[in-house]
Amino acid sequence: MKITVAETAGFCFGVARAVKTVQEALERGEKIATLGPIIHNEQFTEYLEKQGARIISSVEEAQDDETVIIRSHGVPKKVEDEIKKRGLRYIDATCPFVKKIHKLVSEYYEKGYAIVVIGDSSHPEVEGIVGWCEGDAIILEKEEDISNEMPRKSLCVVAQTTIHRNLWNFFREFLKSTCQNPLLFDTICSATNLRQTEAASLAKNSDVCIVIGGKHSSNTCKLAAICREHCEQTFHIQVASELPDNLHGSRIGITAGASTPDWIIKEVLRTMEEKEIKQEMGQEEALFATAIDETCKPLRTGDVVQGRVIQITPTEVIVDIGFKADGVIPVGELSEDTTMNPEDIVKVDDVIDVFVVRVNDGEGTVTLSKKKMDSIRGWKILEEAYENKTVLHGKVTATVNGGIIVVSEGVSVFVPASLANDRYLKNLDSLVGKEVPFIIINMEQRRRKIVGNVKAVLQEENKRRSDAFWAEVEVGKKYVGEVKSVMPFGVFVDIGGVQGLVHVSELSWQRVKNPADVMKEGDQVEVFVIEAKRADPENGQKNDRISLGYRKPEDNPWIIAENELHVGDVRQVKVVKNMDFGTFVEVIPGIEGLIHISQIANYRVKKPSDELTVGQVVDAQITDINFETKKISLSIRALLPAPEVAPEAEAPATEETDAE
Ligand code: F3S
Repeated sequence: MKITVAETAGFCFGVARAVKTVQEALERGEKIATLGPIIHNEQFTEYLEKQGARIISSVEEAQDDETVIIRSHGVPKKVEDEIKKRGLRYIDATCPFVKKIHKLVSEYYEKGYAIVVIGDSSHPEVEGIVGWCEGDAIILEKEEDISNEMPRKSLCVVAQTTIHRNLWNFFREFLKSTCQNPLLFDTICSATNLRQTEAASLAKNSDVCIVIGGKHSSNTCKLAAICREHCEQTFHIQVASELPDNLHGSRIGITAGASTPDWIIKEVLRTMEEKEIKQEMGQEEALFATAIDETCKPLRTGDVVQGRVIQITPTEVIVDIGFKADGVIPVGELSEDTTMNPEDIVKVDDVIDVFVVRVNDGEGTVTLSKKKMDSIRGWKILEEAYENKTVLHGKVTATVNGGIIVVSEGVSVFVPASLANDRYLKNLDSLVGKEVPFIIINMEQRRRKIVGNVKAVLQEENKRRSDAFWAEVEVGKKYVGEVKSVMPFGVFVDIGGVQGLVHVSELSWQRVKNPADVMKEGDQVEVFVIEAKRADPENGQKNDRISLGYRKPEDNPWIIAENELHVGDVRQVKVVKNMDFGTFVEVIPGIEGLIHISQIANYRVKKPSDELTVGQVVDAQITDINFETKKISLSIRALLPAPEVAPEAEAPATEETDAE
């Protein structure tokens, strides 16, 4: 038997987008109501309902705290207006291709055109489209719908995205021949086109065609009709258990509607393979296999079983659960922490507990969930922690609207932004991937909603550490702390529940222009206490005052200077700053001296900057050192020869000039 699966089988772009929207909202812990089933597939909507996505048929049914999701089919304008009027939170997951039709219809209706929609009048997509021209549209569903009362001019014609191309072609030709310049917008979705073309060619080359998808799914029904045109043995099934027992033929073609989830297609394939094996095994062996099956333990949805991991792929984990078929954990059912890879969660040969999500009538696959199992277990642990006010730990896995998600014991906990840290954070993304402590402040079993508080735990911890600090702090005591913030005037360092300031002047023995040149946030540094005073609210002091030192006394350059510098020494010095009265130079790192303006040259200097530039290195002689006042005087002039005196300046002669 040769099985060919159509490349276009399964979720189209618009459906995948809508489904993802719902799943993401559920993961964020939002309370969800979808306006109608999100897709035309019973199994999948049932699954989403179990996850908490409620289906409503009108805006009226939505509760105030629910997020309403508009499905890919779209809705009439008045429904959108109603949602907005009620002030409900909503997400519009209308397929962008359908949105485009809404825009066309609304625009041309306003311009006075008569709107014609070719499609199924009872399909929600068509109901949505006509709702953008106040319901004032002509719907052409079948050839008999043509009447003489059709307007003859100013027509704007659009198509339901999933109609059969032949229907569009028929009406297009008719309207072109009977109306004056109709505006014909071929809005059949290219995904539909491709899917239908591929289905036709697949059917032509198959003995049997299997079309998988909901019985209410318009596009699946059309696929089945197309396949039937070319292949007599076409079966439209919703799930694997509906597969006919005997398929007569060796070439099997499989396609699926735009709202058919991948796992249902896989399930059908697996079942067919098993059927093939059984057929090959022959009647006697099949009976034997059935006998074996019967001895296998029964398995039902909702069971918790133990199994051994036998294979890990990027999309699923296969588990031997001692049933006639192995169980499959889709990757999304492995863990709440979506940042982890399957191999980080389980290893081959691990024995794990799993929750049975679905059993395919004892014939095919068994869908399992480890995430659900973890969640069941985790809920118990979290419930106990909530009652006992125990501190839990978890990993921040994502930021969401208004807070962060912390996963602890396999359960997602929402922490509002205001409770996510002990100090204000502009960007919560910096927390993602970090382990945080928290307590639970609210738990709603019905909505599977848990709210946590990280801030309270951190504040409590800080208080405990702060009390310990004040109990034993003394001047000179050393601490290793973490740099928390760097300001132009200094650096705040956390030394265990309290923060102290290292003033810019205490960072280095050398001149520091910008504290960020010395330290950055997150650095671990050793500091010592210069001064520590607790706040005295009675005397108007609100804040504790802790001054810290970072530069080490033993590195004090004046101690080095006492050994290294002597009057009369000639040193290479670097110009640091020019003033009107002289120039400051760096004698050794951290020590500056002054060359008075009169000592810069052997002639009269008007301005020091005329002779010396900042950064220039020059030779100068130390002429005086005062270690008490920490002042050093230097002279360049002392190293230069006495100036020659010009003849006109010679009279009267002096002793100095004569000395030459
Ligand atoms: Fe959109 Fe086309 Fe699917 S219109 S919902 S992508 S079939």
